[in-house]
Amino acid sequence: MGRLVVVSNRVPAPRDRLQPAGGLAVALRSALKEGSCLWFGWSGQQVSEKVGHDHAVNVDTVENITYATIDLTHAEYDGFYQKYSNGILWPLCHYRAGLMDYERKDQIIYQNVNEMFARKLLPLLQPGDQIWIHDYHLFPLGQALRDLGVAAPIGFFLHIPFPPWSLMRALPEAHSLLRSMQAYDVIGVQTEDDARNMNDGFSMVGATAKAEVFPIGIDPDSFAKQAADGLANLEVQRLKESLRGKPFIIGVDRLDYSKGLPERFRGYEVFLERYPEHRGKVVYLQVAPVSRGNVPEYRALRQELDAAAGRINGTYGEFDWTPIRYLTHSVPRTLLASFYRLADVALVTPLRDGMNLVAKEYVAAQDKADPGVLILSRFAGAAPDMEAALMVNPHDADEIADALHKALTMPNGERQARWDHLEPDVWRVTALTWARDFIQALGKARSA
Ligand code: ADP
Ligand code: F6P
Repeated sequence: MGRLVVVSNRVPAPRDRLQPAGGLAVALRSALKEGSCLWFGWSGQQVSEKVGHDHAVNVDTVENITYATIDLTHAEYDGFYQKYSNGILWPLCHYRAGLMDYERKDQIIYQNVNEMFARKLLPLLQPGDQIWIHDYHLFPLGQALRDLGVAAPIGFFLHIPFPPWSLMRALPEAHSLLRSMQAYDVIGVQTEDDARNMNDGFSMVGATAKAEVFPIGIDPDSFAKQAADGLANLEVQRLKESLRGKPFIIGVDRLDYSKGLPERFRGYEVFLERYPEHRGKVVYLQVAPVSRGNVPEYRALRQELDAAAGRINGTYGEFDWTPIRYLTHSVPRTLLASFYRLADVALVTPLRDGMNLVAKEYVAAQDKADPGVLILSRFAGAAPDMEAALMVNPHDADEIADALHKALTMPNGERQARWDHLEPDVWRVTALTWARDFIQALGKARSA
């Protein structure tokens, strides 16, 4: 077996205890535990644009993975990462074309950075490599590599949703972007809807590419173990003591408008309004680490949530009870797993999400003799396979409120029956099966 070369914009720093929040890094770290692998991408650092700056590659090998990363200049970070990737492609792919902040100059920077990635990766490639490119930051990278003469198998996986052509065509470069994807031997997406939308797009622009479904998952065994083992941890004990036996609701999301956080807070507010018997008795912890904090929509969202949390706590709080505990920083994964296990309810209510790993992590973390209840948005990619969760429309605050009441009053028999339905899928479709299936398909496509 040759080497696997993974390329993504976000690459976790291999030696940091606090890993970046985000499904891509989490799933890939779980998937790449075996075999020899090169992981190439952005270091997470910005440098000033010095004359002669040419993106030195920094290499660090930890266990079976060699991490090769480059810094971005301030201008690249702004145009490629903040503006085009996260100010245009992200909202468009999450069905929010109205939030797109389009300027043609950013597309040029996006294209240039993709070409720079290709130039920097080229000397690191070896005969026999298979290349696997990830996510919307790097749609044109396959074509840029082909233009440099790379003949190796190249696959692409999109971690986020793909919109219908009626929306996609709002992007001025929709044609060239979709056509550039013909460079890939295999194209993977999360759900049937995404595959249908992308394939419609391909046929609209006359491209012969084809998207297939490769649903992503977690590493359920190690997550379940972490959740159980971590209960003895001092910080987990501190959380437990602070709850004093009160029912505990948890939400864990990057602070992103696709996650439906204002709508969720509103749902919780309506729940306190309409079900006063829970006032003073429940605790809701929302962990929402700041993400892409300099993109204007994300900054506005943070202000909105700060205000909403303040309003709810001010209105319903008592001198000895705070309705929402709201953190905008990350929590180590080891703690997070046990936090999930302590939680009676998880609120996972994105307005639109590629898959949503938090939903799967919550299920994996439960004690099967006394499991908690998952409240899940119909618009998460995970929804079709998790119908035993309490499904909600995240736009409907009353539905969230009713689901919270139902979850908090659900007898153990029903909680167990629901968990028994959720569990098999979380263990069947994992980060490892996802990566194995994709890499197998890539191998076959090339030999065919
Ligand atoms: P996305 O990729 O859009 O961020 P996912 O739900 O698929 O959404 O993946 C998020 C991943 O990041 C999960 O594995 C989750 O545990 C992790 N994560 C989210 N928030 C935090 C946090 N505050 N601290 C640590 N990890 C987090
Ligand atoms: O899984 C979706 C995703 O957008 C990844 O591509 C990304 O790495 C992650 O969420 C977090 O976002 P960012 O890399 O911008 O911090």
